Amino acid sequence: MTANAPAALGAVLIVEDSPVQAEMLRRVVEGAGYAVLSAGDGATALTLARQHRPAAVVSDVSMPVMDGYELCRRLHDEEGLAGIPVVLLTSLADTDDVIRGLNAGADCYVTKPYDEALLLASLRAQIEAPPSPSCAGGCPPMRLRLGDAVHEVRPRDARQLVGLLVSTYESAVHQNRELRRMQERLLAANRELEASNRTLEAAYAELRETQSRLVQSAKMASLGELVAGVAHEINNPLAFVLNHHATVSRALVQVEAEARPHLSPERARLLDKAEERLADMAGGLERIRDLVVKLRTFSRLDAGEIRTIDVEEAIDAVLTLLQHRIRDRIRVTRCSGPAHGLDCYPGPFNQVLMNLLANAIDALDAAAGGGEITITTFQDEEMMSIEVADNGKGMSEAVRERIFEPFFTTKGVGEGTGLGLSISFGIVRQHGGTLEAFSEEGAGTRMVVRLPLRQTAPRAATNTGAQT
Ligand SMILES: Nc1ncnc2c1ncn2[C@@H]1O[C@H](COP(=O)(O)OP(=O)(O)O)[C@@H](O)[C@H]1O
Ligand SMILES: [Mg+2]
Repeated sequence: MTANAPAALGAVLIVEDSPVQAEMLRRVVEGAGYAVLSAGDGATALTLARQHRPAAVVSDVSMPVMDGYELCRRLHDEEGLAGIPVVLLTSLADTDDVIRGLNAGADCYVTKPYDEALLLASLRAQIEAPPSPSCAGGCPPMRLRLGDAVHEVRPRDARQLVGLLVSTYESAVHQNRELRRMQERLLAANRELEASNRTLEAAYAELRETQSRLVQSAKMASLGELVAGVAHEINNPLAFVLNHHATVSRALVQVEAEARPHLSPERARLLDKAEERLADMAGGLERIRDLVVKLRTFSRLDAGEIRTIDVEEAIDAVLTLLQHRIRDRIRVTRCSGPAHGLDCYPGPFNQVLMNLLANAIDALDAAAGGGEITITTFQDEEMMSIEVADNGKGMSEAVRERIFEPFFTTKGVGEGTGLGLSISFGIVRQHGGTLEAFSEEGAGTRMVVRLPLRQTAPRAATNTGAQT
């Protein structure tokens, strides 16, 4: 309820029950060069209007005791105040607002939250051309359809009718524009959200992959330790048995030379049998020793030294080893790019080739018809790609997802251990490369190894495994 010194443009009476809203309005109106009178309710506003006769009234609609419409009506009914233009601030949530405003004699609507420029423009227009007080109450009532209801309205005059409707329309257009701007902002925010969602999904997928690799390498490490332990446990008694076998064989040879002439035919046969058995045992022991060496190679954490090898030669060697399984029924096609040597741990690298080719042969064995394996090598400046493709039985998506898991196999007992690919995966990764599988059930499989051509520093922990 304060009246500031009248400014050059005249005084504006602000009627607003919220002190915060009132203060904000005051700043806007004063900023435009008007003097401001403030009232917190309709009754005070009427008193101030009588005392100061402001150039215009800007009033909130919903206020306790006397609302904006009632204030409007009172102003227009009172001689001397009837010509003061009233700008009503409303949320325009209800179409009835327009009817109420018309009947109350309001001149202009501005929607809340108001746009400062629009409010000031409306205020200026009202002050520059205020309604004529003489016309008050001069128009006949008219019927107006709004929505699905018909209302009776009594506009003060045609100017008020048009003015109020136009200001309502202007406010609606303004609100619409704001809504559109907000919609655009929302769309942009949505696009950003989608982008961050995609980033998040990618990060999650990477995390899961890293996790499964970690699990795999942990499994492989413990398997390596287990196998190394078993190999070690077998190795000591084996060395002891081999030594004694040699001693017994030598002793038998010496004893035989002296004893044989004195032996009965039955005893001589027994001696022959003992010699035969000793020879058989030598073969068996030799196989155990081979197996122990393989187990140790399989579990070896330090897999020898990095050497530069010729990949084509390595493939030749592995194919020779597998020749007994390939024979004439599988056609092997080679597509070789220019080769300049590959840095790798040769043993483990050969194991990878062996595992991939053995699996391809298995897949062709399981499929009917003529089999074909295509081995393609390709080399660019940094990487070597080796692709082993077969037209065998292929695999389902569910199988493909699990093939790098240790002990995952679809083969029968004694046919598969499920270790070939998990070991190969580990070897390839320790070379800083990748191993990927592409497959279609019933059509075939393509296994792709990509390795860096050069190894700068020796990489730790390479498990190697036998063909599985
Ligand atoms: N070339 C291939 N074609 C079809 N399935 C394959 C191929 N290579 C691997 N697989 C599938 O992956 C599984 C795991 O392979 P691997 O780790 O070498 O173990 P294993 O050969 O002992 O079963 C196989 O049992 C098989 O189901
Ligand atoms: Mg295998």
